[in-house]
Amino acid sequence: MLALGVACFMALLPTKGTVAQPAARVTIDVTPPPEVAKGEPPTPPAPEPSEPPDGVDCSVVACVALTFDDGPSAYDAALLDKLDELGVKATFFNTGQNTANRPEAVKRQVESGHQVGGHSWNHRDMKKLTAADACADADRTARAIRDAAGVETTLVRPPYGSWNDEILAACAGKTFVLWDVDTEDWLTHDPAKITAHAVNDPKPGSIILMHDTVAETIDALPGIVSGLKARGFELVTVAGLFNDPIAPGQAIYFGPRAGAPTS
Ligand code: NI
Repeated sequence: MLALGVACFMALLPTKGTVAQPAARVTIDVTPPPEVAKGEPPTPPAPEPSEPPDGVDCSVVACVALTFDDGPSAYDAALLDKLDELGVKATFFNTGQNTANRPEAVKRQVESGHQVGGHSWNHRDMKKLTAADACADADRTARAIRDAAGVETTLVRPPYGSWNDEILAACAGKTFVLWDVDTEDWLTHDPAKITAHAVNDPKPGSIILMHDTVAETIDALPGIVSGLKARGFELVTVAGLFNDPIAPGQAIYFGPRAGAPTS
């Protein structure tokens, strides 16, 4: 059968030296196809209004996002229990190495409704790597998170907040998530100071930096949440600050400065 098929195919090919003959007659049909409408171009359908990811419209009300870096750590179980009790969704920026060591913690972060992003494989300063190496490190971290929790993440928190435009441009598809409120929890380990920064410093749209490697932060969490709520803030994930998906290729320090805290 194969030989016959090849033979038939070969028979259809022009033999060497054959000159193609022009078609004897060419007709051009100038009648427009009936399905082409004349006049105004068709109006595209209106886009569906997007649902705020966390059910809160942060373009109208004052929101803040709690973020936890450097984990997952041995404190994550207690932290996740506490966030559940408080009914708060947060965002975790996990290192790849800690994700590989504690995959079940990252899985629980996701299953509990928190958002996750990468924080480099092993907390290297991106600016001390080539842009290509920094992005490969970010990709490796995202793969570890995917392997642990089954989610794809494009969010990257550069360690030390250290990044530049060259690195951001090289890391195609990634969004760098920085912060505008630093609780300095890693520095003071003082629950009162951590709480004061976390409650008093935010403005609408603030992204608050904390660490799930600091035990005092977890101790301070109920006071932080009640203090922020008393000021009139809604607590959402980083994605929840925005009604539309965050476009890649940008670095964000805060979300919409919308609404007003009541104090
Ligand atoms: Ni860090």
